[in-house]
Amino acid sequence: MTDLRVVRRTHRCGDLRREHVGQTVVLKGWVHSRRDHGGLIFVDLRDHAGLAQIVINPEGNPAQFDDAHQLRSEWVLGAKGLVRERPEGTVNPKLPTGEVEVVVSEWLVFNRAHDLPFPIDEHITVKEEARLKARYLDLRRPEMQRNIRTRAKMVQATRRHLDGHGFLEVETPILCKSTPEGARDYLVPSRVNPGMFYALPQSPQLFKQLLMIAGCDRYYQIAKCFRDEDLRADRQPEFTQIDIELSFPTVDEICEIMEGLMAAIWRDVLGVEIPRPIPRMSYREAMARYGIDRPDLRFGLEITDLGAVFAQSEFKVFRDALAKGGVVRAIRAPGGGTLSRKQLDDLVAFAGRHGAKGLAWLKVQDDGTYQGPIAKFFREAEAGALREATGAAPGDLIVFGADQEAAVCQVLAAVRGELARQMGLIDGSQLAFTWVVDFPMFEFHPEDKRWYAMHHPFTSPRFEDLDKLETDPGAVMAQAYDLVLNGCELGGGSIRIHDPAVQSRVFRALGIGEDEAREKFGFLLDALRHGAPPHGGIAFGVDRIVMFLAGSDNIRDVIAFPKTQSASDLMCGAPSPVAEAQLRELSLRSTVKRDEAKA
Ligand code: AMO
Ligand code: AMP
Repeated sequence: MTDLRVVRRTHRCGDLRREHVGQTVVLKGWVHSRRDHGGLIFVDLRDHAGLAQIVINPEGNPAQFDDAHQLRSEWVLGAKGLVRERPEGTVNPKLPTGEVEVVVSEWLVFNRAHDLPFPIDEHITVKEEARLKARYLDLRRPEMQRNIRTRAKMVQATRRHLDGHGFLEVETPILCKSTPEGARDYLVPSRVNPGMFYALPQSPQLFKQLLMIAGCDRYYQIAKCFRDEDLRADRQPEFTQIDIELSFPTVDEICEIMEGLMAAIWRDVLGVEIPRPIPRMSYREAMARYGIDRPDLRFGLEITDLGAVFAQSEFKVFRDALAKGGVVRAIRAPGGGTLSRKQLDDLVAFAGRHGAKGLAWLKVQDDGTYQGPIAKFFREAEAGALREATGAAPGDLIVFGADQEAAVCQVLAAVRGELARQMGLIDGSQLAFTWVVDFPMFEFHPEDKRWYAMHHPFTSPRFEDLDKLETDPGAVMAQAYDLVLNGCELGGGSIRIHDPAVQSRVFRALGIGEDEAREKFGFLLDALRHGAPPHGGIAFGVDRIVMFLAGSDNIRDVIAFPKTQSASDLMCGAPSPVAEAQLRELSLRSTVKRDEAKA
């Protein structure tokens, strides 16, 4: 007898093939299923590589045969036996191991599994809550195994590419001082410095700039980042970036290396060649044609500005919007005339959920005239000008947004995507990459009447715009760029400010006074004064890239242990209350009463 506890596994279950026939093998894995066939028991034994059929018969081990009837799903088993061809008629062409089976001579139960909350099966739909509570079981499912392995391959491809281009991997701290990337910080109290807090990094932005000043030349890191922001399908409070910085770069050089990185990732992970060079589009053009700075270019449905057409319109909604300094814009959907009234009502409701006050629409009839609730308002000249501006033809649908520009962009960008989905215009296999460049440096927030950095405050203005920093901040363009894929922002970066005087002027433009700048970023301003090379870089969202590679639209499916929409870990139960004593040690007191705190 062999003690299977101490005998090495010879093969992974999923690796057995016809070539192994005649060999004695040792397999270890989980019972995927058990079938009793008269005198024989068939078990599909599973590990991450796949399934192997093992056959337990009374002759092999009469003493244990009765126990074999007890085997249940997810029990952990070791088995030793002889590989043989499956008898004629029992070959399973759907399984890579389907031509062979292992006739077991010895087997041992390493562990049992009790009360599984859900079966480990590719084809069942389980509520996500249950999956997250028992994530270790969820991760056993082949789909999740594939996802985490895809992720690992993607990171390997990244390291290979960047190592090959002279980038140095450097780790930066997790306990740091707040780095503004636009979200709230996660704070960590310091026990030894009562009343003081570290911030978890929203990104390693300042450290990577300091590494350039330190002469590292080219840096990268697979970096954990933390942002306390509202979560969406492609956002997690804790996520991973491929964080990159280069000294003495040009924008073209950065784009070229990053396109190479994307190509290496898609080639190494999926064997797919992505079209290069990746086209570039200005922010202004993206907003005008698609209403958004991360356009999905897999389909048309572009936006047309109709200010010139409707300035004198009898339709009050359009005339008023223009009179108030707003815009009237439209999307022509070729063939959209077939949408039913119900579909159009749904589309109007959809637009409403994205902030629209209404969504006027028209259908173009066979004779070229318009049909729809607002058709009656249009005079002949207007109707002709509309046709000319949009290229409308019989069978088309035109939808309109009229409001302030930002609101119309937001609504029509959303409606554009929804129309494309409804009309089946999206080719799921297409990869439409684009760079978006020439972002404005600042955006104005009317709520608190101040300018905010559109990328971050360390981004360099275009050199030719430097003289407008004080006089006309809204006209200053940034040396920033985003990489967009199918309507998703994969990454973003910029050329940074390396001149301390310019950095101070940008802080001032953002309403950050001298004292505050010194207090928050004194170390950066000092470093910039000690021979900072021109530098720039970018960061990509690892989780988002893996979502594309895995074909998933849920960021949680590509993270081994993700958080829910309310930033909780359902398995470990984080966040959780802590003992009074722990708080005292940290010089903290909660204002939330114990029984008010969420369990
Ligand atoms: P940015 O804030 O644009 O830039 O972030 C870079 C990329 O990180 C990903 N990302 C996220 N992924 C998942 N969940 C989140 N909450 C989340 N937030 C961001 C996105 C995004 O494009 N320091 C700069 C980069 C630079 O300038 O070099 C930065 O962090 O894919
Ligand atoms: P109303 O005059 O509000 O009944 O609107 C007449 C039509 O114009 C309806 O089809 C509305 O959906 C549409 N509409 C109203 N406000 C807007 C707007 N701001 N932008 C586009 N369409 C609008």
